[in-house]
Amino acid sequence: MKNKNLIIFYLLLLIILIVISRTLIKKQKPISFESKLIKSEYYNKNYKKRYINYYKNNKSLSINQIIINVNIGLDYPFYKNIKKTDLAKNNLILVNKYNYLEKTYIPKLETIDEKYANKNMKLTPLAKDAFEELSKNAKKENLNIIAMSTYRSYTYQNTLYNNYVNKDGKDLADTYSARPGHSEHQTALAIDVYNKTKSYLEFENTKEFIWMQENAHKYGFILRYPKNKEHITGYQYEPWHYRYIGINEATYIHSNNITFEEYYAKFIENKK
Ligand code: DAL
Ligand code: ZN
Repeated sequence: MKNKNLIIFYLLLLIILIVISRTLIKKQKPISFESKLIKSEYYNKNYKKRYINYYKNNKSLSINQIIINVNIGLDYPFYKNIKKTDLAKNNLILVNKYNYLEKTYIPKLETIDEKYANKNMKLTPLAKDAFEELSKNAKKENLNIIAMSTYRSYTYQNTLYNNYVNKDGKDLADTYSARPGHSEHQTALAIDVYNKTKSYLEFENTKEFIWMQENAHKYGFILRYPKNKEHITGYQYEPWHYRYIGINEATYIHSNNITFEEYYAKFIENKK
């Protein structure tokens, strides 16, 4: 008799435990993709549909990477959905295949000392000072880091781009040359360098390039079109092209191995 009661007691206890655990499991609904989106610090409610569509074809990416890529504009093909860049960002203005400068935009320009540049190479005052300092310190180690292309006007970029299109066709030209209005060279914050003895196309195989990899960020410059980031920057690897942004920003980008596009989407675009 005693045993029978005990069995009934344990059976009841088991049933109660099963019922409780089932209701608990039911209450724990899986967290939806949308609520994960909203929790991200980079979420922009205007792009909600774009995040959802981009996620469908990019399921291996993290939520933050989905958001950053869409904020950059990468859910559209290059040169689709373009907008005028925000000039109020000063040294941090973003010019790429989604963000452009108007034809009339001409920044304040100063000519680089000819010790450090070919003739008539102009940058904005801050970028010019930073570059001269960089080149002067490299020279102390017997290295020549010489500016060979800096500010380019809209009209000049137009001529360059059209020449490349005539030579190589539009698709190939787009991998290495910006369309007018979309070149960072129009900001006067970008610079192509060489070491005087080799063509800029061979800059990667010079001691000067190694020095730039270790030191450019200390002067506020970043390698703007790195290897394996073509899908983000829109351009082939350019070991000779550097962009002035400022020391803190350049140091962050250098140590985290990210592109300026990613940095801009994370920290600049929505900063008041
Ligand atoms: N070569 C770089 C992308 C430019 O044309 O601005
Ligand atoms: Zn360049």
